[in-house]
Amino acid sequence: MTEKMKVAIVGLGSRGLLVYAPIVAQNDRKMELVAVADPLEANVTEAKNRYHIKEENCFRSAEELLQADRLADILFICTQDRQHVPQAVAALKKGYHVLLEKPVSPDAKECDRLLQTAEECQRKVCVCHVLRYTPFYSKIKEMLLAGAVSKVMNIQAREDVGFFHQAHSFVRGNWRDAEETSPMILAKCCHDMDLLVWLADSGCSTVSSFGGLSWFREENAPEGAAKYCLSGCAAKDDCPYDAEKIYIFDKKTGVRHHAGWPVNTFVLHPDEDSVREALREGPYGRCVYHCDNNVVDHQVVNLNMENGITVTFSMCAFSATCNRTIKIMGTMGQIEGDMGKNMIYYTPFGKETEEIDLTKLTDDFSGHGGGDARMVEQVCDYIMNGTKSPSITDLAVSLESHYIALAAERSRLENGRAVTL
Ligand SMILES: NC(=O)c1ccc[n+]([C@@H]2O[C@H](COP(=O)([O-])OP(=O)(O)OC[C@H]3O[C@@H](n4cnc5c(N)ncnc54)[C@H](O)[C@@H]3O)[C@@H](O)[C@H]2O)c1
Repeated sequence: MTEKMKVAIVGLGSRGLLVYAPIVAQNDRKMELVAVADPLEANVTEAKNRYHIKEENCFRSAEELLQADRLADILFICTQDRQHVPQAVAALKKGYHVLLEKPVSPDAKECDRLLQTAEECQRKVCVCHVLRYTPFYSKIKEMLLAGAVSKVMNIQAREDVGFFHQAHSFVRGNWRDAEETSPMILAKCCHDMDLLVWLADSGCSTVSSFGGLSWFREENAPEGAAKYCLSGCAAKDDCPYDAEKIYIFDKKTGVRHHAGWPVNTFVLHPDEDSVREALREGPYGRCVYHCDNNVVDHQVVNLNMENGITVTFSMCAFSATCNRTIKIMGTMGQIEGDMGKNMIYYTPFGKETEEIDLTKLTDDFSGHGGGDARMVEQVCDYIMNGTKSPSITDLAVSLESHYIALAAERSRLENGRAVTL
């Protein structure tokens, strides 16, 4: 039997503590969490107690952990966007393989530097493009490889961010300021750019993009809007972005109905009292029209792929649900997919449409449509046995998506000028 993969995690927030640590624990025959680091003492204590980690392997920062001798086979880096590269470089030099949260970095030069270090140290860096591992996109890729539509000519893809998700992450939350983290087309859509390159089976030659921050701005605040939703806002009743509606009452996102995402991103053990307390004067209680956000709320991207496939992609905040849809048009047929419904509709031209219901093939769609857990398992096989599944995104592969997203952002800022990669 192969040895267990020893895992260390730095950044015990939503991804590190709430997503990856439980996945590692569930796969205890193949992997083991042995060390953690985070400046938040409560989160370190939580991980230490829950996963029986030795006191001496609990650190207050990634930097501190990386001062110690190598403690694991692989380091999961789940800190914020701008911390990734320095931490990954130090980890590679210590001999760790790395599972790196996306985006790698908003700075193309830093991305290059990391790639060079990984090559010099001969260590593997896999980037968390979790959607590649979902039954939905894996099935579409499998169909394309089998020639289902013959030659692909055009792909249309859409990401519906969801009004509450936009408000939570990109207006009030961590990814609201491109200078602090990344432009939204990189932060949110490097996944989509990666999927498009993968499905088109081609690099991209030219990009153009339009979009902006049109709605979540001071001048769009309704009359009587208060700075905080819980401090007597007169516009509350008609406002879907009201923090109380999203975080307390809503059936899918409110703490009255469940204590998971998004309330667990700002309260470690959420209940109604602790969430109300956090909303009173905290960032997530702010009026969406009175925040310090600067990332877009809608953006479109056109890609001209090196193999001649044309692609259009649209990301928009203003949707009722978070979802991705895709249409792939080939010379002999088309594939349409709705990830939210877990349905694929395949029509070879001149024949009946075949409906592929993915819920009949698997029942595990938790965590990014089932992608989170499958990714960790497949990365483990890659690190420990060298078995490389078609979904694995090595750093070099992932960076293609980053360069496209950064070019799209440049194009958007220059009013849609076509940018050649
Ligand atoms: N793969 C995906 O689909 C996906 C989804 C969401 C977020 N992400 C990415 O994952 C990363 C983490 O996101 P998150 O939502 O967990 O953020 P988060 O803010 O919840 O967690 C980040 C954690 O890092 C800790 N931290 C800060 N400085 C540190 C240091 N020097 N050493 C160790 N820990 C430190 C923070 O205290 C915090 O607990 C981000 O880059 C984000 O873009 C990826």
